[in-house]
Amino acid sequence: MDSQTKGQFEATVLFNRPLRKCFNRMGLQLTGEAAEAFAKTRPGQFAQFDVSTVPLPPENAIPEELKDIAAKQILLRRPFSFARVAAEKDATVVEVVYCVLGPATLRMTTLAKGQSVNLIGPLGNGFSIPQDKKRVLLVAGGMGNPPLEHLAQTLTEESPNIEAIAFAGAKTKDNLPFERTLDKISQELGFWLGEFARYSISSFVATDDGSAGFKGTVTSCLLEWLNNNGHNPAETIICACGPKAMLVNIAELAADKNIDCLVSMEEMMACGIGLCQSCAVKCKDEKGNEIYKLCCKDGPVFNAKDVVF
Ligand code: FES
Repeated sequence: MDSQTKGQFEATVLFNRPLRKCFNRMGLQLTGEAAEAFAKTRPGQFAQFDVSTVPLPPENAIPEELKDIAAKQILLRRPFSFARVAAEKDATVVEVVYCVLGPATLRMTTLAKGQSVNLIGPLGNGFSIPQDKKRVLLVAGGMGNPPLEHLAQTLTEESPNIEAIAFAGAKTKDNLPFERTLDKISQELGFWLGEFARYSISSFVATDDGSAGFKGTVTSCLLEWLNNNGHNPAETIICACGPKAMLVNIAELAADKNIDCLVSMEEMMACGIGLCQSCAVKCKDEKGNEIYKLCCKDGPVFNAKDVVF
């Protein structure tokens, strides 16, 4: 990805809508040089958003649990990967999904259509599917769905012969960061998630409390599916994004089943460009020696076999 153009650009908000609970989905339009740079974004790559000057919502719109920290100064940019990237004639539209968890994401909720946001990107290395793979299992835990939605989009557009199946897990149905859970399209197709159904990709949902889909973790759901469905390990790859505990389990499952696995890691990222060393990920080299790689520069997508969890 080194030859890919990246830079600091202004993006214009096209929409910014609440999904459910704390989740929101925002669409941004980039034009000119920025459109060109972001049109080539690979799934898993990200941008650093500057929301330091975005105003807070009115007092009565701030959730009780965030009132104490809402006014905190935003010193660092925030990284977001993309759920969808659409290159249009003179512009590129990117979509992000975010959860309102602190002062930065709280401010993001006030961004309205037409306002601008400063981004640095596209950054990092995304998912790259080896040519010998015929089936990709997309596994999202919690807020891990955006890069996998983007991967679903690129697989459909660039590799229509590869079969993809999505698995999404959360604590409860309300914690699924999807807008189109069992919406009209997905109901007609019998798939759970409209976000994947739009690419004709079937999907399974797992919730810890059983309020939707499989009762249990997304890893157990995937295991059950692998046990019940014939698959050729050499032609299959798992691509996962979610909390570290889930990635550990998915990496173990992939190793047990002898299936290649790529994981998109979520680390704190201060600079996003390899300068501050705040995002070190413990890995091993070809000889098994422990080394540190940078999530922002070498990742965020890693081969699960290379990561020391
Ligand atoms: Fe600064 Fe990775 S975020 S080095």
